[in-house]
Amino acid sequence: MREEISIADAYRRGRTVFMGVELLVAPGALVPRPETELLGTTAVDLLRRMDLPAPRVVDMCCGAGNLACAIARRVSGARVWASDLTDGCVEVARCNVAHLGLADRVSVFQGDTFGALSGLRLEGSIDVIVCNPPGQRRRSTVPTVSYTTSWDTTLFQGSKA
Ligand SMILES: C[S@@+](CC[C@H](N)C(=O)[O-])C[C@H]1O[C@@H](n2cnc3c(N)ncnc32)[C@H](O)[C@@H]1O
Repeated sequence: MREEISIADAYRRGRTVFMGVELLVAPGALVPRPETELLGTTAVDLLRRMDLPAPRVVDMCCGAGNLACAIARRVSGARVWASDLTDGCVEVARCNVAHLGLADRVSVFQGDTFGALSGLRLEGSIDVIVCNPPGQRRRSTVPTVSYTTSWDTTLFQGSKA
């Protein structure tokens, strides 16, 4: 009940806070859930441990762009490619990128999973992929973060078990 109220409240105010970052929300995209911060903070910790000057990150199924934007804010120098299937999510994510002044480091694309990024020549160049996929409640194969050097890397590491 409390969660329903806070989600309704976020939509009413048009804003929420995710990993300490103020984000715009609109009905076309889900309000980021507090538990998704665990995925974001895990990715940030991993990226900091990698200690790369300009780590390259993909946020697949980006929704409101919360993970992409929060990671870019927390990891200076990170370059993030985000994508989502729907018009509403892509629009909200792009609004958040502009709202947070991250347009030079976060790009938002639209399409079906990695098809959205085809043609960008990112293959073999990405350090970390984050993904909070749709329908994750149906099975317990929830991924956290994947290292990758090619698109052949299984995105959902949990499904290997
Ligand atoms: C659980 S939400 C995650 C949103 C956001 N990343 C977060 O963590 O709050 C899943 C997202 O996947 C997107 N989605 C669903 N099917 C997709 C597909 N085939 N390709 C890309 N994105 C998809 C939905 O539009 C939705 O925004």
